Amino acid sequence: MNVEKHTKKMYDQFGKEYQKTRKEKHKSRLYNEFLEVPCMIKAVGNIKGKKLLDIGCGAGVHIKKYLSKGAKCRGMDISKSMIDMAKQNCPNVDFKIGPMTKLPYKNSSFDIVTASLSVDYIKNLIPVFKEISRVLKKGGVFYYSNESPIASARERYEDKNFKIFGIGKFIDKKTGKQIALGRGWNERLAKWEMVPGMLMKTYNKTFRTQLKSLREAGFELIDLIDCKPTTTFRKYEPAAFKIFSKFPLFSIYVSQKK
Ligand SMILES: C[S@@+](CC[C@H](N)C(=O)[O-])C[C@H]1O[C@@H](n2cnc3c(N)ncnc32)[C@H](O)[C@@H]1O
Repeated sequence: MNVEKHTKKMYDQFGKEYQKTRKEKHKSRLYNEFLEVPCMIKAVGNIKGKKLLDIGCGAGVHIKKYLSKGAKCRGMDISKSMIDMAKQNCPNVDFKIGPMTKLPYKNSSFDIVTASLSVDYIKNLIPVFKEISRVLKKGGVFYYSNESPIASARERYEDKNFKIFGIGKFIDKKTGKQIALGRGWNERLAKWEMVPGMLMKTYNKTFRTQLKSLREAGFELIDLIDCKPTTTFRKYEPAAFKIFSKFPLFSIYVSQKK
């Protein structure tokens, strides 16, 4: 089964459970609510009156906030289960179900396109970015977030003295043994479990691939924002707050259609 079909199947089957864990103190889901969401909402700035499309909109968490900032929103997602929740969250918004490789909108329809943690599921970004460019007006802005290549480069290591998930040089002072950790420069398909049984496959991309893909699709990168954890995040996850105050877990790429 290809990754697109697999992603749809997983979100259709486990989407409700996944969404529920985002509200609970849970070892990874708070990263969405208290790291990515506030960072993206701040990044888009003043969007009053703007026509905005959210791609891979999930349960409509961002759209609800964009609406409260006065934007005219639409949303799309590959999963029916996620869109069902989005419709409940934002009853007056027009949502569509489908893959982001074929957007069901006319050329030059939007001032802004956003994609929060959803392009990670795409192997080849260029056709998707071209679709996004097609539906954006000239001068329109595309914001997408994903796992930072810095976070993706972390590697796990364990022996009797160390348990590490990181990048860099680690020295065992007793033995003098040196451990070099990092995943190198290769792009890879990451396989991980989102909630029990929900096995995800996402693509880690280098900065270069992302910049090249944006350029080939007719975008100019105007900003790259690393998401800093909020004080609310510190309240719920003090240990993770310390870690992600030192390096970014998520980043937001801000690009303009030329
Ligand atoms: C991690 S969730 C994020 C949801 C939402 N953007 C948020 O941050 O709350 C990823 C979303 O991307 C959607 N998605 C993944 N691949 C997609 C594709 N090829 N086309 C459209 N949506 C996709 C999934 O169904 C899921 O709802």
